[in-house]
Amino acid sequence: MSNEKFSLIDKLAEQHSLSRAEWTTLLGGDEASLFERAGKLQPEEEEVLQYAAAKARKVATSVYGSDVYIRGIVEFSNTCNKNCYYCGLRAGNSKLQRYRLTVEDILECCEDGYKYGFRTFVLQSGEDPYYTTEMICDLVKRLKQDYPDCAVTLSLGEKSYEEYKAYREAGADRYLLRHETANEEHYGKLHPENMSWKNRMRCLRDLKSLGYQTGCGVMIGSPNQTVECLVDDMMFMQEFEPEMIGLGPFLPHSDTPFKEEPKGSYEMTLFLISLCRLMLPHALIPATTALGTIKPDGREQGILAGANVIMPNLSPVQVRDKYMLYDNKICTGDTSSECRDCIERRMELIGYNVVISRGDYK
Ligand code: SAM
Ligand code: SF4
Ligand code: FES
Repeated sequence: MSNEKFSLIDKLAEQHSLSRAEWTTLLGGDEASLFERAGKLQPEEEEVLQYAAAKARKVATSVYGSDVYIRGIVEFSNTCNKNCYYCGLRAGNSKLQRYRLTVEDILECCEDGYKYGFRTFVLQSGEDPYYTTEMICDLVKRLKQDYPDCAVTLSLGEKSYEEYKAYREAGADRYLLRHETANEEHYGKLHPENMSWKNRMRCLRDLKSLGYQTGCGVMIGSPNQTVECLVDDMMFMQEFEPEMIGLGPFLPHSDTPFKEEPKGSYEMTLFLISLCRLMLPHALIPATTALGTIKPDGREQGILAGANVIMPNLSPVQVRDKYMLYDNKICTGDTSSECRDCIERRMELIGYNVVISRGDYK
C-alpha cells in the first residue's frame, strides 16, 4: 500500500490531479489509521508523509523561493448570527462576551500593521449584520486610499452576489470563505438546518466570478468527516482551483455542541497541506493558527510541509481572547508587534524569510 501511495504522490506532483479512486487510495486505503484523529503513526505512514512534505516543499520553493508571506488579521467582531456547531463564536454561545471594533479601531490596527511591514490586511468577523455593506465598502476604500500598496482580504462569511460585488468595487482584492466540507451530507452534520451547503458553494462561485483571489478550505478531522469527505474536498479543489487554501485541524470549544469531540489529526493536516501544494503549486496556503495551537511548532512544520503564508494577529490585545473559535487559541495575550517578531524569528530558524510584500497569487 505504501508503494502505491508513493507513486500516487509522484503522479500528483507531475500531473496535479488524481482520479477519485486514486485520492481514496492516497487518503485512506488499508492504512486507515493514518486518518485516525490523534493516532500514532506507523513508520511506513510517517515515510509517506515525509515523502509528500519533501516534494511539496520543493514545489513551494520553486514558485515562491524561501519567502513567507505574512497577512495581518484583524478580527473585528466576534458577533455572529450563525450557529455552526463547531465554532465558539456561534450565536448560541451565551457565555461569550461580544465585541465590535469601530471603523476607527480597525484603521488603527492596520496603521500599526503597516509599520510592522504588513502589506495585506485581512478583515475577519462573525456574520454580523451590524456592519452594513456601506460600512464595509467605506472601510475598504479608506484602506486602499491610505495604503495603495496593500491588499485587502475580507472574510465576513456568506453574503449576496450584490454585496460581494460592492466590496470588490470598493477595492477588496481577496476573500476567504472556507467551504468547510465538499460533501453536502457532511455539511448538514456540521451546521444547523438553516444553513445550506449549496449557498456556501454559490458564494464561492460568485467570489471567483467577481475576480477575487478566492480562498476555500476545511477543518481536518471535523466531527463525522470520513475519507470520502476528504476525497470530495480534494476533487472539489482540483476543479475549483482556489487561489488560497485554509487548512487547520478541528479543535473543540467547550461551549459548543462539539465540546466532547476529539481534535483533528495534526499529521493529517500536514499531509493535506502537502497534497494541496502538489495539486495546486501556485496556491497561497497558510500555516494556520489552529496548526500552531495543536503543536507549538505547528506553523513551522506547516511551512516545511508546503505552506507559504502566515497570518499573525493584528487585533487589539483587549479583544483577542474573545475571538475564541476553539479552546486554547494561541497569541491571545500577545501584542501585534510581538507576534510579528515571533513569526520572523520562527521562520528564520527554519531557513525562511518573512517578506514585506502584498504576496499575491503568482
Ligand atoms: N464567519 C466567517 C466564516 O464562517 O466564514 C469567518 C470567520 S470563521 C471563525 C473562520 C473559520 O474558522 C471557519 O471557516 C472555520 O473553518 C474555522 N473554525 C471555526 N471553528 C473552529 C474550530 N472549532 N476548530 C478549527 N477551526 C474552526
Ligand atoms: Fe459564525 Fe463563522 Fe463561527 Fe460559523 S464559523 S459560527 S459563521 S464565526
Ligand atoms: Fe503570536 Fe508567536 S505568533 S506570539
